[in-house]
Amino acid sequence: MMRVGVMGCGVISEVYMKNLRAFGIPILAVADLDAERAAARAKQFDVLQVLAPEELLGHPEIDIVVNLTVPQAHADIARRALEQGKHVHTEKPLALVADEARALVQLAHARGLRVGSAPDTFLGSHLQTARKVLDDGWIGEPIGATAFMMSHGPERWHPNPDFFYQKGGGPMFDMGPYYLTALVHLLGPIRRVTGTAQTTFAERVVGSPNRFGERIPVEIPTHVQGLLEFERGATGVIVTSFDVWHAELPRIEIYGTEGTLAVPDPNYFGGTVRVRRRGADEWTQVPPLFGFADNFRGLAVADMALAVSHGRPHRASGELALHVVEVMEAIHTSASEGRHVEIESRPVRPEPWPMGYDDTQLALDLRAETERLG
Ligand SMILES: NC(=O)c1ccc[n+]([C@@H]2O[C@H](COP(=O)([O-])OP(=O)(O)OC[C@H]3O[C@@H](n4cnc5c(N)ncnc54)[C@H](O)[C@@H]3O)[C@@H](O)[C@H]2O)c1
Repeated sequence: MMRVGVMGCGVISEVYMKNLRAFGIPILAVADLDAERAAARAKQFDVLQVLAPEELLGHPEIDIVVNLTVPQAHADIARRALEQGKHVHTEKPLALVADEARALVQLAHARGLRVGSAPDTFLGSHLQTARKVLDDGWIGEPIGATAFMMSHGPERWHPNPDFFYQKGGGPMFDMGPYYLTALVHLLGPIRRVTGTAQTTFAERVVGSPNRFGERIPVEIPTHVQGLLEFERGATGVIVTSFDVWHAELPRIEIYGTEGTLAVPDPNYFGGTVRVRRRGADEWTQVPPLFGFADNFRGLAVADMALAVSHGRPHRASGELALHVVEVMEAIHTSASEGRHVEIESRPVRPEPWPMGYDDTQLALDLRAETERLG
């Protein structure tokens, strides 16, 4: 079985390490710029080695670096991991600029290594069910989509929220990956975008007890909207905001020639998919057709481990993540330059799970792989 090193031991590392352990994927070492944080996570999950970041990247027995650092560090850590011959799965976004994301995909390709990125929520029960409904033609040919992420930002609960208001943060770079990855998973790649972006508040006030009342500067737009033109012909709208107190908008809806598909929050793995075909008086709930309805963050690492062994593409691919970074960057470019922006990258839609695939089947696949490798 592929062995993992976890880089970055902050908030999100807990659920990753819990899930990787449950999958039976060995975590050989952890590292963080803050050695105390790394030591605390190592203790919590019985990881034997607490290393300096450089040592983890050079560790001869680590196959996959799971990069859970802050967005500003993602591309640098991923590049250094690839240069050390490691596969890498990184938290989102893959990079802060599309050129960096593209360079990572090219480097991985040149070295015969895998690069992958969060989010992996599109592997959850709701988005896999929605994909099946869409691909089976329940709503006909897609004509449009809407995606709304309205919030008032994470500074009221996150212990160190600075990065959300620096380059690489903001609602589009922080939350856009969930929505855009879901849309590309459902509708395929985007060919052109138009955007608006604004900064409403110059400062934010931290709410968590460790830094309560501290003011942090806002360096990026916090209310960002994009018009999306998909290659297959459908068009869409995405609105992401850290400035909105209340809204009653849906998360994602896909409109087709024969009906509408309502998709729950792509920041989670579960939730009820609903469909309403033309002429229907009501929405119909679609039963979940796949497993992974709980918080399975890290699922893409398990998929990558199996994909490497089987010589097949992994689902949360670098190409998909590059496309998402390119689209997010282009929305901001469009906003600042007042023009449509063409998107170059054209990832293939990730392969859906086989019908009915679930946690039990994954566990069996991982166990079979471990036994096969001895
Ligand atoms: N917190 C959440 O709910 C959540 C959910 C989904 C995704 N994410 C994503 O996960 C990533 C981490 O978020 P978080 O909330 O855990 O942040 P965090 O600030 O709690 O943790 C990040 C950790 O990375 C470490 N770090 C920073 N730069 C580093 C470097 N160069 N080398 C080694 N360690 C370094 C920091 O010391 C810190 O401990 C972000 O990309 C975020 O968008 C977070």
